[in-house]
Amino acid sequence: MPRVVLGVSGGIAAYKACELLRRLTESGHDVTVVPTAAALEFVGAPTWAALSGKPVATDVWTSVHEVPHVRIGQTADLVVVAPATADLVAKAAHGIADDLLTNTLLTARCPVVLAPAMHTEMWEHPATRANVATLRERGVVVVEPAEGRLTGADTGKGRLPDPGEIFELAREVLARSATGSAGSSASSVVTDLAGRRVVVSAGGTREYLDPVRFLGNRSSGLQGYALARAAAARGAEVTLVAANVALPDPAGVKVVHVETTAQLRDEVVAAAASADAVVMAAAPADFRPVTVSEGKIKKADDGSAPPLELVQNPDVLHELSTERGHPGSVVVGFAAETGDASGTVLEHARAKLARKGCDLLVVNDVSGGAVFGSPDNEAVILAADGGSVEVPRGTKAALAQVIWDQVARRFGP
Ligand code: CTP
Repeated sequence: MPRVVLGVSGGIAAYKACELLRRLTESGHDVTVVPTAAALEFVGAPTWAALSGKPVATDVWTSVHEVPHVRIGQTADLVVVAPATADLVAKAAHGIADDLLTNTLLTARCPVVLAPAMHTEMWEHPATRANVATLRERGVVVVEPAEGRLTGADTGKGRLPDPGEIFELAREVLARSATGSAGSSASSVVTDLAGRRVVVSAGGTREYLDPVRFLGNRSSGLQGYALARAAAARGAEVTLVAANVALPDPAGVKVVHVETTAQLRDEVVAAAASADAVVMAAAPADFRPVTVSEGKIKKADDGSAPPLELVQNPDVLHELSTERGHPGSVVVGFAAETGDASGTVLEHARAKLARKGCDLLVVNDVSGGAVFGSPDNEAVILAADGGSVEVPRGTKAALAQVIWDQVARRFGP
């Protein structure tokens, strides 16, 4: 059973850590909660003890014979601190150890995830910026706070992301450190995309006929969201351009919501200008109606249907591949293919890779049924240099990890 330390520091968002704790314990993790004394002002020790099934201490003087200030950190597979206050972030960056949680952070050799939550001014203060940069350089996953309503009347950046999404991120980090850490320190393997900016598109666009009707498609956005989550868990700065997706925002990811292919194109191209990689997992509609009626289109008395005239949308992947906004960036496309008399799935896919001009093409064989909305996927990743990687049937999260492995190999130093 993976051992997780859940650190909780003294912010109003401490109540959200109860939900995170539940998710961790219910999914088979052995969780030790280490709150700070200030955290207990917000949520009391009985709550943490009852939800974790273990006693809870904030100081190093409880159960001293068990040497908790060293043992808890040493034996952990993952430390997650949510919420991490500006004070906790500062202490972690400077190696201050004045209570059980900060001692645990100093003794832990496993991956560490900090989910800061604070007011915008505190998050943007040069002191906090410097502390966050230091921690990220050391391989700590510092999750970007979400934007929205803060305590009191103000809104801005600084909210704790959705606890369910912090849980997903923690799971990604644990899974990755369990598989690939041979020979290197766990934290450097986990955050191999630190300092990289990536853009992911997800979902299916809507092309409006009138204010209420549109042409759409069945893309669920699951694969794109899995890619965004995986990249954030590996330390990347992630922009997710999401077309009509009804999924919670992944923790630490900047989500831009769009509806049409034209909007998606503008947002992706703008973000790609400074990105190291772009992954086009979205299904932009290839066509849109020539005109969008201002009013709702009415039924005709004679029973006739209105004509539907379509025009082709821009091919975003082709544009990104041929006019690279950022020199040396890696561009990845997706293709849903079926074999036919004129060629196999892979032959069609090779031709598409060349046509689009991207570096990698993730090919789903959809001959046997759709992948839409399914939690699983299997694929072949074709590379422009002729290589290919087969990814057996597994979760979309697992496929996302292999895609980032392939992207990371193509990054320069
Ligand atoms: N794509 C895009 N812009 C579009 C349409 C698709 O960027 N207007 C991207 C998708 O995000 C995906 C890839 O292109 O990464 C899928 O290729 P697509 O053009 O949908 O395949 P087909 O429609 O089968 O292409 P073609 O008609 O060229 O065979």
